[in-house]
Amino acid sequence: MFSAAARAAHPLVDDEPHLLADEVAQRLCRATSPSPLDYQLAQPEAAVLAAARLSACTRSRYAEAVVSEAGAEQVVVIGAGLDTLANRLPPGARASVWLVDRPGVLAWRARLFAEAGLVDAAHGVTADLAQGFDLADLAATGVDLRRPVTVVWLGVSMYLTPQECRRFIATLAGLADGSSLVFDHHLPADLRNDAGKEYTQAVATMAGHVGEPWQCSPAPGTVRTWLTEHGWQVEADVDEAAATPEGFFDRQQHLSPMRLVRLVHATR
Ligand SMILES: C[S@@+](CC[C@H](N)C(=O)[O-])C[C@H]1O[C@@H](n2cnc3c(N)ncnc32)[C@H](O)[C@@H]1O
Repeated sequence: MFSAAARAAHPLVDDEPHLLADEVAQRLCRATSPSPLDYQLAQPEAAVLAAARLSACTRSRYAEAVVSEAGAEQVVVIGAGLDTLANRLPPGARASVWLVDRPGVLAWRARLFAEAGLVDAAHGVTADLAQGFDLADLAATGVDLRRPVTVVWLGVSMYLTPQECRRFIATLAGLADGSSLVFDHHLPADLRNDAGKEYTQAVATMAGHVGEPWQCSPAPGTVRTWLTEHGWQVEADVDEAAATPEGFFDRQQHLSPMRLVRLVHATR
């Protein structure tokens, strides 16, 4: 909900050019009251809310560019939460979308879509990545594993342990050649700037209190090893700020670059 509210608020409170516009997230937030969108609208200058908008929008924009450029036909969103990629595909896109999350989360998502009067355009697949992930569960819901799959894994790796992240990447080695993986991860503490450290302190405390502590912040070299040891080729590996358009921050009143999040695109 916090991520969806960040995407919903961005075009309402930040300056142009916008990273994305997510009207579906706006409708989902407005279906609940009070909603994190209320806080975003009331205090767009608050550093923690602005940083959440930057991260949630940059990662989704980055992943959606990979999906479009690849002409992906099968997209699997891992740790989907209230991801709205399936609802915002450009007209004519051929992609079918599957959403993977824990059972309670998918049921909550379904209720929220219904309350907002929205049709969820994607297929749900329940899984807890902490218990492992089986590609057979995707096949059972219609994913054709003989054909390429684009896996979008955003805002999730930090909630898993490094071992769970590595095991998940190993599992994805069973995908067909031509598949893509796009995800974000946190950088280790010594590679963060002050803004990244402050955001971590503010959000990690909150995440820990609700029982979802941040646990994984590998160095870029470690992530490269996890990928290449399982046959993935790293196509791009950039700081979040580098994935925004040229001159983006010069025009923003509330958003400023933060060094905490790394975006990765790999193919096989
Ligand atoms: C911060 S939200 C990100 C949601 C969405 N991907 C986005 O970018 O807006 C984290 C999501 O990861 C899911 N998640 C966390 N741990 C998980 C696990 N062990 N297995 C499956 N999903 C998990 C949560 O349920 C939640 O939906």
